[in-house]
Amino acid sequence: DNWIRVAEARKAEAAGRDCEVRGWVRTRRDSKGGFSFIEVNDGSCLGNIQIVAPGELDNYADEVQKLTAGCSVVVAGKLVESPAKGQATELQATSVRVLGWADPENYPLQKKRHSFEKLREWSHLRTRTNTLSAVMRTRNQISQSIHNFFHENGFFYTHTPIITASDCEGAGEMFRVTTLDLDMLAKSGGPVKFEYDFFEKPAYLTVSGQLNGETYATALGRIYTFGPTFRAENSNTSRHLAEFWMVEPEAAFFDLADDMRLAEDFLKRIFTDCLNHCDEDMQFFNQRIQPGVIDQIRSVVERPFAHMTYTEAIKILETCDAKFDYPISWGTDLQAEHERYLTEEHVKGPVILTDYPSSIKPFYMRVSDDGKTVAAMDVLVPGVGEIIGGSQREERLDVLTSRMDAAGLNQEDYWWYIDLRRFGTVPHAGFGLGLERAVQYVTGMSNIRDVIPFPRTPGNADF
Ligand code: 4AD
Ligand code: MG
Repeated sequence: DNWIRVAEARKAEAAGRDCEVRGWVRTRRDSKGGFSFIEVNDGSCLGNIQIVAPGELDNYADEVQKLTAGCSVVVAGKLVESPAKGQATELQATSVRVLGWADPENYPLQKKRHSFEKLREWSHLRTRTNTLSAVMRTRNQISQSIHNFFHENGFFYTHTPIITASDCEGAGEMFRVTTLDLDMLAKSGGPVKFEYDFFEKPAYLTVSGQLNGETYATALGRIYTFGPTFRAENSNTSRHLAEFWMVEPEAAFFDLADDMRLAEDFLKRIFTDCLNHCDEDMQFFNQRIQPGVIDQIRSVVERPFAHMTYTEAIKILETCDAKFDYPISWGTDLQAEHERYLTEEHVKGPVILTDYPSSIKPFYMRVSDDGKTVAAMDVLVPGVGEIIGGSQREERLDVLTSRMDAAGLNQEDYWWYIDLRRFGTVPHAGFGLGLERAVQYVTGMSNIRDVIPFPRTPGNADF
């Protein structure tokens, strides 16, 4: 088997090899000398391999000269040093087999550049473009780095359920799961008992694996979840999805300081890996998507993150010269514009905000001695805003249950969660990273819909 991926075939040391390349045509150019240049991409890297197809090929006139963008081909031949600029090698073809044609009248990805918005109509084909393929390779690298980082630091990968009855964040943004035939019920005009719709029980799509994660952290010590999570918020912004991937480490015997250190080491590891292993794609983002993104990421890796309490942040926002659309004062949640000001104008880099008012954070966060704030931390970065949200958890039984009462939560529904405080309770902490927001930050992509293969936003779940 002498199949070679284009990423390998493009390297100077591959010259001299007899091999086979399998991919999709990007362009074809016929030369006056009676041969053709075909650019083929196989998704393994940004660059194409240049195929030199001689006129002597059996199928030269019938097939080779009819190749257009999108056709799939298997090309055998010898890799040689390329005289052309910008490529170390090219493939001198001895055979070009066409596996699938792509009618140029209908194939949407012709040479013309399409807007990202237009490309979203072709989620099934857009990964064949330079930008989307570079983004998806980088997303893959980040996913690999996440697993590597946690495994190297003694965290066990834990699978938490997608269907659940618990509203972890308490924001009422859960999608309902039902086994009822709602159409039939509506037609029959009968009363619909929504409270008993998942085989006799209420159920939703999870907004976070954290509560289940805590049960595993208080048994295995250190765990992380990494899976899809859902938010039924009707927001159409460039950083919200209805379905996104979240990474949630949880560690027993951790306090807020440990949690912040973990978050910083974790992000730096992801960024370093992207710089080291996605060089070609990062150069592309740097030139075409967000000028300077490489230097930005590099400087973030080199310096310690800034820290600031919520109270300090509010003072800065209240006294600065910037004009905000949303008023800000102690006790209100930060809007995107406030996060941007803090990261882009004030700190000029990532910042970890801590000690938020308990009134704007979920019931599970640990109440501090002042009685007004909780041991929370959010990591904000320029351009994207919040990429991590985390906290030390409330480990004291009495404080937790009174917080639940205050939040209007039924203790009976969370009996298993409360049990963790009844049997061998320990301080523990964790956080959630939105994978897509991390990909946005590293690539400089401005819309979150363009960093996930099939974006789910209000009204968009066709395929
Ligand atoms: O701040 P959030 O809501 O925190 C939690 O869910 C905690 N239970 C996490 C934990 O402590 N284990 O969400 C965490 C992160 C956010 O910082 C953001 O990066 C991302 O998830 N996120 C979203 N990403 C895309 N679309 C949305 N609608 C998102 N909502 C949150
Ligand atoms: Mg949050």
